[in-house]
Amino acid sequence: MRIIGTGSMLPQKMVTNEQLSQFVDTSDEWIRERTGIETRCVLSTESLEELATEAAKQALDDAGILPTQLDYIICSNMVNEYVIPSMASIVGGHIGSQCPAYDLNAACTGFLYAMDMAEALLQSGRAENILIISAEAPTRIVDWNDRRTCVLFGDGAAAVVVTRGNALRSIKVSSKSDKSVLYYRRSLEPTPFLIRDKNTGPLCMNGQEVFKSAVTSSLRDMQYVLKQANVNKDDVTYFVLHQANLRIIDFIKSHFGATDEQFPINVNRYGNTSSVSIPLLLDELNKNGKLRKGDLLVFSAFGAGFTSAACVIEWNKSAE
Ligand code: ACO
Repeated sequence: MRIIGTGSMLPQKMVTNEQLSQFVDTSDEWIRERTGIETRCVLSTESLEELATEAAKQALDDAGILPTQLDYIICSNMVNEYVIPSMASIVGGHIGSQCPAYDLNAACTGFLYAMDMAEALLQSGRAENILIISAEAPTRIVDWNDRRTCVLFGDGAAAVVVTRGNALRSIKVSSKSDKSVLYYRRSLEPTPFLIRDKNTGPLCMNGQEVFKSAVTSSLRDMQYVLKQANVNKDDVTYFVLHQANLRIIDFIKSHFGATDEQFPINVNRYGNTSSVSIPLLLDELNKNGKLRKGDLLVFSAFGAGFTSAACVIEWNKSAE
């Protein structure tokens, strides 16, 4: 594959740490120190499908591709107002595409899982152009009275268009099942036969366990994909990491012995946007003219599951 277009759209409402401290027992100082987050964007007047549609349109424009030229739409999404139809189908309708469209859920790792699927479709010859969208509203699954979780997240959508090419040097996706560390159990409709499971509710997270799993898997995955691609870490222009938490990113950066310039961040402004964070940061780098043809990028993500993934990809947006 080759990435030929990027786009993103965030909710208009930006919430500061100070604003959060007005309704939960927290402080700007605590949140900055422990997470690096200063502000986050949260859904208020707009819907997630509107953000996803706008991100998709931007990515198509950037790629110079018409919706009718798409062969698949894959959307990474954990929760949305609609369970069915899929977010990918909904966005497909909004942009005027009739290609196959489906959602996948690999939590915060979803974007890289979608890249892995897209690569398989492109390699098999079943597709030429694929739209990958990440659309997430984690602020809709947290308890806004729980200071341990509600301060961490932000909403948004981001998208990329990929086409056939040789830019993806290596990719690794993995999953290790553990339901106890990070989960969200939604309530389902009662039936005459079931006693309704009362054990549902907002997002539950063991922060310290997530921290440990995240750094372990990210370091392991990045080392693996660099070796597979025969790339030295010093030759990587940017490590585009899942923006969960600045401390996680700093830990990985120092263990990798990499420079600040190699680790761009935006978690300070947008919080943890789940699977959106990598394509969102990529779009920012692209729009700000920070990417040059031939740049080597490493993506690395980790999330509930416990899922993780990484890849090495060359930035090669214009035709080879
Ligand atoms: N404001 C003030 N105090 C707080 C807050 C807050 N927002 N949140 C927790 N505290 C308190 C706790 O109640 C606790 O108080 P106590 O000692 O009186 O009980 C104290 O701070 C320490 O709590 P810890 O959970 O031990 O704090 P820690 O240093 O581990 O930081 C954090 C918590 C930031 C969640 C950290 O564990 C972390 O970064 N974990 C990674 C989690 C993550 O990134 N999750 C993202 C979602 S998953 C993903 O994207 C893969």
